[in-house]
Amino acid sequence: MNIQAQSSDPFATRSDLLVLMLSKRDKKVKISPLTKKIDKVLDGLIASLISNSDITGDEGEMSLIYTPNLSEKNFYPKKIMILGLGDINLLSTNKVRKISASLIKKIKSLKVKKVHLLNENSILYKKVNREKFCQSFTEGLILGNYNFNKYKEKNSSGSVEKFTFLDLDNENKKTINRYIKVGSIYANAEILARDLVNEPGNMLSPSDLAQVAVKISEKHGCKIRVLDYKDVKKLGMGAFIGVAKGSERPLKFIHMSFEGDKGSPENNIWLIGKGITFDSGGISLKPGFGMGKMKGDMGGGAAVIAAMEAISQLKPKINVNVVCAATDNMPSGNAQMPGDIVKAYNGLTIEVDNTDAEGRLTLADAIGYAKDKGASKILDIATLTGAARIAMGDGVSPIFGNDENLINTVINAGNITGEMIWQLPLDNVTKKQNFSMVADIKNTGGRGGGSTTAAHFISKFAEGVSWAHIDIAATSMLDTDRDWYVAGATGVPTRTLIEFCINL
Ligand code: BES
Ligand code: MN
Ligand code: ZN
Repeated sequence: MNIQAQSSDPFATRSDLLVLMLSKRDKKVKISPLTKKIDKVLDGLIASLISNSDITGDEGEMSLIYTPNLSEKNFYPKKIMILGLGDINLLSTNKVRKISASLIKKIKSLKVKKVHLLNENSILYKKVNREKFCQSFTEGLILGNYNFNKYKEKNSSGSVEKFTFLDLDNENKKTINRYIKVGSIYANAEILARDLVNEPGNMLSPSDLAQVAVKISEKHGCKIRVLDYKDVKKLGMGAFIGVAKGSERPLKFIHMSFEGDKGSPENNIWLIGKGITFDSGGISLKPGFGMGKMKGDMGGGAAVIAAMEAISQLKPKINVNVVCAATDNMPSGNAQMPGDIVKAYNGLTIEVDNTDAEGRLTLADAIGYAKDKGASKILDIATLTGAARIAMGDGVSPIFGNDENLINTVINAGNITGEMIWQLPLDNVTKKQNFSMVADIKNTGGRGGGSTTAAHFISKFAEGVSWAHIDIAATSMLDTDRDWYVAGATGVPTRTLIEFCINL
């Protein structure tokens, strides 16, 4: 779908569908001057639908009007969609994104190719300015339009080819085009993350994931290093290697860097994503039911790599590093065994009580590496614990960390992108649950507070550096459509990572 702004008259525009936005103020529906002019051509149909309360202007309301015989009145669109924005004083960027996503989901089924959105409503930009409105609207269009059907012989759903924001003012047109670009960069990064998560295990190995990162670096000019088994062995990443032992497919340790502030190397942020390309549980094998979802256990890695695609285009004045320790977690005669003791990159020994608690092992070494390379701030993203869903459901991702400032900055970024994040405590009671009789720490912490004990484990490897951790086990994939998501991978929290880096 091509999205762009154009400054032409709606009366001169050949369009399959013209979308008119309606808002409300003090419970009264507001019609803009141009919409009134169009309604004249329709003999006042819109006004009468409003007065009959068939059209209310409520948030997300969509009313389709067929207008096939109006060309003698110089009006060419075959259909009009009246799109409700709700109360203009309650509008937010999150609502705009949600509304445009439901719009695109709806018009896909209408089999229209060229869609125009009349964008002249000046009262529209009271609560949300033109820039943010267009960015969010674009994001909703792209995210709501997503599907993963590349392996289906024919994809039946219709597709919009061209979506145009119409604005008669030429300056506005330029502004809109600029923010369509920004919205596209944010949304397309999240789409890349979705694609990677939805890709099945047999189609996305650690090497394939590394290849994606290499391609992004080549295209957008950031640096990349991909370490192999012998490299990480030499570095002493015993925790990461332990997880990879059972797999036939070789591990890859991916490190991308974008230098936005070359002069001050300490002005840096490290984004670390869990990169388990398939999590069978290893010798602590998972039950069969639903195991296919573990193709998405690299959702954190996908988000950080995808965020880098956007960051290297938006170029914030900060040095951003992305790390993903990629491997499968498989059972085999050579697999890590429950009870094993491994030595992490930072020298701490770990009792591997359960081989299915593998994500924290790979993160331990990735964080150790980042610290060694001079990380000032670390933010890790991981599909880490099923317990995250028990604690918060699939609408909110828990965040933990040792730096309240960092945590709040991430939460605020999530509020802007509509990817909700909420802090859970790292209390001293659950901390004790990782105690090991035989090693420095154990990779499990018992039944209570599963997400918290996992975070406590990671915190042990992040000591002395500003660090936060987001558990996206529940929010990374959805069973049903919601807002700007479609069932399957969400790409969360890619846009939040971008927003966070831009704001740092
Ligand atoms: N990848 C899983 C967590 C997960 C579960 C992600 C469901 C997405 C959906 C993780 O590696 C895991 O297996 N965690 C265990 C930890 C336990 C063994 C301590 C869990 O949550 O059960
Ligand atoms: Mn696991
Ligand atoms: Zn896992």
